[in-house]
Amino acid sequence: MNKNITLGEFIIENQKHYESTSGEFSRLLSSIKLAAKVVNHKINKAGLVDIIGYSGITNIQGEDQKKLDIYANDIFISAITNREVVCGIVSEENDDFIILNGNDNSMSNKYVILLDPLDGSSNIDVNVSVGTIFSIYKRVSPVGTPVKKEDFLQKGNKQLAAGYIVYGTSTMLVLTTGNGVNGFTLNPAIGSFYLSHPDIKIPSKGNIYSVNEGNYLQFPQGIKDYIKYCQEANEDRPYTSRYIGSMVSDFHRNMIKGGIYMYPNCDINNKGKLRLLYECNPAAFIAEQAGGKATDGFQRILDIKPSEIHERSPFYCGSVKMVEKLESFILKHNT
Ligand code: AHG
Ligand code: MN
Ligand code: MN
Repeated sequence: MNKNITLGEFIIENQKHYESTSGEFSRLLSSIKLAAKVVNHKINKAGLVDIIGYSGITNIQGEDQKKLDIYANDIFISAITNREVVCGIVSEENDDFIILNGNDNSMSNKYVILLDPLDGSSNIDVNVSVGTIFSIYKRVSPVGTPVKKEDFLQKGNKQLAAGYIVYGTSTMLVLTTGNGVNGFTLNPAIGSFYLSHPDIKIPSKGNIYSVNEGNYLQFPQGIKDYIKYCQEANEDRPYTSRYIGSMVSDFHRNMIKGGIYMYPNCDINNKGKLRLLYECNPAAFIAEQAGGKATDGFQRILDIKPSEIHERSPFYCGSVKMVEKLESFILKHNT
């Protein structure tokens, strides 16, 4: 694959692989690319302009929204809405799904998008990398009618595309359309994403484990035992602990270096913290497309049938051998 190609060229070249030839899917990906550049530009100025700190608003999940959560949400929603490329949107920052039926075109669109516009927003105030993560499906309700909740409550294995953007030391957009995973790095001088990481594969084994160990005492016993296993000195262990606190950034590091990311259920939160539809599912799809694995401890993330748009799930994801080892520890305590 030619590494000098831009994301725009890649989208056009790959259009023939997509189900639709109407160009709608390509325009949807282009709208995400545009929003990513706008959010990136704003994030780069954090500290210079008034975007650090809380907005004073709490979202439906009881989380205090940061100014940048709201800004990123507005940018992504308007970029996607203006191009009339989806019939509906789910966002972490909106209580309910957004029905785009302002005109006939929106209702005749085939796709829905679900997204976490700004992941790891607590890191923005301290100049640590944050991200965006999204998931795209074909609607199940008839084209030409208003989008329905069922269009969003599809199993992750129905995803047509998923991706994330890491606003890090450089800004990268990593994308799968179900045909492998490719990473594009933004050249800020030119404003274009270039293919920098073609056909990303997660190493089958790594030496990094990522988990918020502050919650250790509340973790299920199988997870506690696996963490102790990671810490024991034996052959290639102890593993290294790395936790940024932006799932997208932690996940991205593990994609490149190999490793396991864990957000278990715990006493105070019996389904964990991460949201199934716009955090776990897109990460799981990308991980599998890169040869990795993602589970809630008992079943494949992509096979879970969602019942609520903001529902949460325990999440274990990364190098296949590490995830399988973790599953063996979970199993010991549940047989
Ligand atoms: P968000 O900023 O979109 O609400 O997501 C935060 C998530 C995830 O990105 C991160 O890995 C995790 O919360 C961190 O949670 P803890 O502080 O509980 O470790
Ligand atoms: Mn998030
Ligand atoms: Mn978020």
